[in-house]
Amino acid sequence: MTSSDYPATGELSPAEPGALLITNVRPYGEGEPVSILVEDGVIVSVDSAWPEDEADRVIDGGGGVLLPGLVDMHVHLREPGREDTETIATGSAAAARGGFTAVFTMANTSPVMDQPVIAESVWYKGQHTGLCDVHPVGSITRGLEGRELTEFGMMARSEARVRMFSDDGRCVDDPQLMRRAIEYAGGLDVLLAQHCEDHRMTVGSVAHEGGNAARLGLRGWPRVAEESIVVRDALLARDYGNRIHICHASTEGTVELLRWAKAQGIPITAEVTPHHLTLTDERLATYDAVNKVNPPLRENRDVQALREALLDGTVDIVATDHAPHGSEDKCCEFENAKPGMLGLETSLAIIAAVFVAPGLADWRFVARVMSERPAEITRLPGQGRPIAVGEPANLTIVDPGRTWTVHGADMASKSTNTPFEGMDFDARVTHTILRGRITCADGTVAEPRA
Ligand code: DOR
Ligand code: ZN
Repeated sequence: MTSSDYPATGELSPAEPGALLITNVRPYGEGEPVSILVEDGVIVSVDSAWPEDEADRVIDGGGGVLLPGLVDMHVHLREPGREDTETIATGSAAAARGGFTAVFTMANTSPVMDQPVIAESVWYKGQHTGLCDVHPVGSITRGLEGRELTEFGMMARSEARVRMFSDDGRCVDDPQLMRRAIEYAGGLDVLLAQHCEDHRMTVGSVAHEGGNAARLGLRGWPRVAEESIVVRDALLARDYGNRIHICHASTEGTVELLRWAKAQGIPITAEVTPHHLTLTDERLATYDAVNKVNPPLRENRDVQALREALLDGTVDIVATDHAPHGSEDKCCEFENAKPGMLGLETSLAIIAAVFVAPGLADWRFVARVMSERPAEITRLPGQGRPIAVGEPANLTIVDPGRTWTVHGADMASKSTNTPFEGMDFDARVTHTILRGRITCADGTVAEPRA
């Protein structure tokens, strides 16, 4: 039996029975508004007139943009271990409000997700909540200690069907261990995602190494600490026959290395976060730890390079790195604060503001970088699919002209650490639909199933 003979995922929460009619939406923001009919969680008609009284449920899309449900390859839902800051239920609600129908939750929980039983409990909780498919990411090394590989095969074959492994939050430092991980992952066709940071160069570092950190007296985290691991892992992927995914690319040099590696045909993919596409280390001046994140906010030239890279495909996708933290870990000295920012509920609005509003890209681009490519990279069936008859109804509706203001306190997340507090955005997710179930409507999230 090979890995491809196994079912693609564990048992999914059931599709919503009955007929859902979505009126007045523009698929990918193109053409005249159409109606979409969904039956038992599957799209059965696009663009035909349906009498509303024949449907069990009706959504008036208000002329909004219809996208495939968004997929986030990188979130931290903190369960098990830090349920005071986020849970599968609150994180799923935040995901539904942000337009997501699938997320991958990282392994740096307590205990670490390094065994099937822990991954399975996360998977089942996500399915019972029923607001978003929550895919557990297995750790690459036991306890995130960087010494011994975990049992990728057992996790891949568990009920959780783990398809991605990462020590995110930490880098796998040992090149020989990383080589073995790549060889092992290749045989199972699972994805390895690397948090690129040479820890020997970032001891005590809390901010981007540059003029701002120097002036403020903050210890710097140099670009080379990221880039040296990007190039190392690209070469390992080239020589040892499996793909590698680069988490939260943050520097201009990483972009250059990715461009080089892709031109060689190396099987490498990469993500960028909304905060690295918009914010710089100028933010540090207030010493407000809401701006502390790992890798750190960098300089304008990095932001510009990352934007160009996402536009030309050098960076494949947007991932939020949604990282909730409680006030005791954020409202304290910068040095002692934990790194991380909320992302799920602001991501779509930020990408629309940076790329769609100024005319740099269209909604097809948003569908590609926030849904289709992440589903392709993770080989996730049923997500990131075309809006077409016969496809599962995993969908997101966006009102591109609804101005709203970010308030951490109003979010579904249990934590409030958003660096976008008080900022206005013009695009808002109005509805999210998971297998025909309306998981979010105008900011109100459906009741969890259990
Ligand atoms: O800022 C970050 N926060 N970066 C990471 O790599 C980990 C994450 C977390 O777990 O809080
Ligand atoms: Zn990370």
